[in-house]
Amino acid sequence: MALLPLVIAPDERLKTPSQPIDTIDDSIRALAADMFDTMYHERGIGLAAVQVGVLKRMLVADVTWRDDGTPGTQYVMINPQIVSKDANLRRYKEGCLSFPDQFADVTRPDAVRVRYLDLDGKQQEETFDDLLGTCIQHEIDHLDGIVFVDHVSTLKRDMILRKLKKQKKLGYFEPHVHGPDCNHGHDDHDHDHAHEHEHVHGEHCNH
Ligand code: NI
Repeated sequence: MALLPLVIAPDERLKTPSQPIDTIDDSIRALAADMFDTMYHERGIGLAAVQVGVLKRMLVADVTWRDDGTPGTQYVMINPQIVSKDANLRRYKEGCLSFPDQFADVTRPDAVRVRYLDLDGKQQEETFDDLLGTCIQHEIDHLDGIVFVDHVSTLKRDMILRKLKKQKKLGYFEPHVHGPDCNHGHDDHDHDHAHEHEHVHGEHCNH
């Protein structure tokens, strides 16, 4: 199990389109496993490779994992493409592991049909709706250098980005040793990683 440091906005990489993957080898399979570990640890439901600094067209998603950390239905999509979109729209308050503690309402098609390669290199095509549909559209956006705040008003986007910029400057998202003074809810406090939450600084933080 490996936890990967997250790319936190604002960051140029999050605006950069990712490159298609030509060969699905062990390094890609290992990356997918590490992305799931990181996603569950950070309590997310989807993660694009660019969010761990790898500019390749790959995403992982699982919207049915349980609170105790038991995985649900896992999706790994390589070079995903939306082939059709439902006319019905769905509005959802989205967040993103690259935008810690920031949320905004985003309206997207309720359902999308997606063509992608799985980890065995087999082509799959499936329709996704509801929360999973929203999640997959959000992650495919990442592969094109688009983030959820690009779908909201400039005012709201600027507010969120300003806040994150300030928190970044204060070192909120630096790797640190977890301790009793952190107010984010991880239950394993024995390792360093780039955490995603705002927290109360104290003697147990190493910044
Ligand atoms: Ni995201």
